[in-house]
Amino acid sequence: MNQKLHQTFFFVLIAVAGGAWFAFAADEEWKLPPETARLKPGPGADLVTGNCFNCHSVDYLSTQPPLTRDQWKASIIKMQQKYGAPVATNNVDALLDYLVKNYGRAK
Ligand code: HEC
Repeated sequence: MNQKLHQTFFFVLIAVAGGAWFAFAADEEWKLPPETARLKPGPGADLVTGNCFNCHSVDYLSTQPPLTRDQWKASIIKMQQKYGAPVATNNVDALLDYLVKNYGRAK
């Protein structure tokens, strides 16, 4: 390849790559799919929303098998200790009331 041809080839390459990058960058506005799962309404639902969904979605709760109070409690403690969830201790009982009633079982 002679020098001139080489330069032309290089220029075309840059132009194509640049164009591709531009097309890609222009396409960069994207949306998350809408959340499909919703928390069951009821007393305490706001508290759960406020404490539990900074890190993950409702599905993490709603796809659990019905857990007992002790199991939900263990889950909250795990969130606090392992993942650093800032759940205030005086909210834990109210959270458990809601979780056991809506996503749990008595025994
Ligand atoms: C600081 C972030 C954070 C907060 C706040 C948080 N979680 Fe989690 N949670 C996680 C992470 C991380 C996982 C594990 C994700 C994975 O394994 O993919 C998880 C997973 C879960 C799971 C699935 C089972 C398991 O143990 O992995 C449940 C149930 C759950 N969280 C409940 C809760 C509840 C209830 C609250 C509110 C009291 C809460 N989480 C708040 C970070 C958090």
